[in-house]
Amino acid sequence: MERNKPQTQQYDQYTQEDFTVWQTLFERQMILLKQHASHTYLQALETIGFHAGEIPDFNKVNETLSGLTGWQLTVVPELVPQQHFFELLSQKIFPATCWLRTFEELDYIEEPDMFHDVFGHVPLLANPAYASFMQSFGQLALEWIDDEEMIAILSRIYWFTIEFGLIKEGSEHKVYGAGILSSPGETRHSMDTDTTTITFDVDTILQTAYRTDVIQEQYFVIDKLEQLDQMLPEVRSLLHKKGDHFKLSAPAEKTIIYEP
Ligand SMILES: [Fe+2]
Repeated sequence: MERNKPQTQQYDQYTQEDFTVWQTLFERQMILLKQHASHTYLQALETIGFHAGEIPDFNKVNETLSGLTGWQLTVVPELVPQQHFFELLSQKIFPATCWLRTFEELDYIEEPDMFHDVFGHVPLLANPAYASFMQSFGQLALEWIDDEEMIAILSRIYWFTIEFGLIKEGSEHKVYGAGILSSPGETRHSMDTDTTTITFDVDTILQTAYRTDVIQEQYFVIDKLEQLDQMLPEVRSLLHKKGDHFKLSAPAEKTIIYEP
């Protein structure tokens, strides 16, 4: 569909429909997330100050983030090319759209809008462990940036953590992945007792293909957010040792990693 995708956030351009969409998505999702989101995400949401009545203002978000972890948002009209995406992450800059889906698209949208990018991803950028991983992941990806297949394999780590990760809290699984946090269907599915959940394992993830166009078939569960940064040396070493094996074992997806 024809859509206005601004390159900068002009707050006075938001329409009444935009505010209604943000409010509806926010309120609907919070009913689920109060029960199912990681307490770290819920805390971060409070820290960052998002609420149903106000579409986030990127300037204010950047002020808050700069005092917490030094991360900044930059407006992008849509998905950015991989190399640029990883370069931005390595510089602690998160590219986010500032437009919202229409009311008719409330339940499904083909590309990430501001509700996914900002509601889903941004609160945890206030958390030091998550923020540190995002930057380190960007730096690691740049080491393989000229090898498309290796980037696709490495993207599985991002996919099964930042987009669709679960975390253990007590005896329960909770959500921290942005692709789940911004989607009621994915939240319910990830919490369904029949859904496959797998203890986080780098080697397994590097061999696990994913699809961007369906509800996920499985979710990987970490014990704590600090685990994300801690596993990066293993990722690097496995990619060096078994990179060709990963390429052979499953043809790399030609998918874009940051689009749920
Ligand atoms: Fe995303």
